[in-house]
Amino acid sequence: MDKFIVEGGKPLHGEVSISGAKNAALPVLAAALLASGTSTFHNVPDLVDIKTIRKLLCNMGAEIDGDGTVSVNAGNITGQEAPYDLVKTMRASILVLGPLVARFGVARVSLPGGCAIGARPVNLHIKALQDMGAQVELNGGYVEARAKRLKGAEIYFDISTVTGTENIMMAAALAEGVTVLHNAAREPEIVNLAEFLNAMGAQVSGAGTDLITIRGVTSLRPAEATIIPDRIEAGTFMIAAGMTGGEIDIRGCNHSHLEALITKLRDTGMKITPLADGLKAACGEKINSVDIKTLPYPGFPTDLQAQMMAYMTIGSGLAVISETVFENRFMHVSELMRMGADIVIQGGSAIVRGVPALRAAQTMATDLRASASLLLAALVAHGTTEISRVYHIDRGYQGIEKKFSALGAAIRRMKQ
Ligand code: UD1
Repeated sequence: MDKFIVEGGKPLHGEVSISGAKNAALPVLAAALLASGTSTFHNVPDLVDIKTIRKLLCNMGAEIDGDGTVSVNAGNITGQEAPYDLVKTMRASILVLGPLVARFGVARVSLPGGCAIGARPVNLHIKALQDMGAQVELNGGYVEARAKRLKGAEIYFDISTVTGTENIMMAAALAEGVTVLHNAAREPEIVNLAEFLNAMGAQVSGAGTDLITIRGVTSLRPAEATIIPDRIEAGTFMIAAGMTGGEIDIRGCNHSHLEALITKLRDTGMKITPLADGLKAACGEKINSVDIKTLPYPGFPTDLQAQMMAYMTIGSGLAVISETVFENRFMHVSELMRMGADIVIQGGSAIVRGVPALRAAQTMATDLRASASLLLAALVAHGTTEISRVYHIDRGYQGIEKKFSALGAAIRRMKQ
């Protein structure tokens, strides 16, 4: 297990290139299962979660080749199972459920179980498949779904669910008749998937709105897709610029995917200016404390809540950070407090009173975005911080210590 050793207090300057989005690459790679033949994907990030989905698809008989540009041949799928060993390391493995039932009429996918940020059930994925005529049983911890051919249906999601919307969009692409998703999630990653499905010959319209219509077709063909830039990675570097008193050109990110964050960062005093291929994020004179409420897109992303909280620990006043998407996403609070942060949790909100400075400590990463918040805190803390269990951060940030080092951070990876 690796750990990071971070010496705080260095302002970050320079430029960084943003990698492809993990949360876009995972569903798009899973969608390759929908067609016989080889699909090609560009700008695929090099991450542990991508390795996991590759293993999952290979385990079913897919042939996968390449890095960055990745080809997936789903012409010879021999099994329709996602085993517990892989699913337990990555909940998004559930994304193979929809494509498998749609193309092969059968799927056996381990239930993800609990995780550090809450119960995170998949009941809405299952209910939607049942509404489309699938027989679904829970057996030995596995979801087993069968359907000769799925039927188009009106689906009402009780909660906006990102992977739920993606799973059912993929399933509906090969269903008989029209499926309408009401209260669909609107994340940019869903638009990326819809565009790939349409390139495969699917008929999806409305992606990016909360009403998505999918006209089922009888077969899909392999196609190409380019993965959109990772807005969460971009946001993490923007926050780093503000926190460390620096200025970073963030190349290759999509400004329009980051509006909620940009507005908040400007309120903290930061200067954010568009560039031809990204944006410039520069610190302000002081850090104004701002309140945050996480919401489904286009609201403030829950995947940037922990990083924003790290920023607010050194704000000039009081910030109320409300988490409305997940019920237990404050695992980073106790670690930030060990570094001198002043935070009180009240129900679904954290009240963060800015302190003049954080102090280095031994800390432990607990989940992907929590680890990013500890790294940000370490970059400004007095002294040398140790962050253990950084495998969490490797799930979702490509070469993070290299990117931060190139900006002037003092960060080393060590074997534990
Ligand atoms: C995706 C992202 C994750 C992000 C999250 C919210 C991927 C691979 N992961 O996760 O990084 O933090 O969106 O933006 O894209 N829920 C149910 N029943 C269900 C499904 C969801 O109750 O069947 C609840 C969840 O517990 C949660 C809320 O709905 O409270 C939203 O979850 P969802 O959008 O499904 O998150 P994921 O797709 O798992």
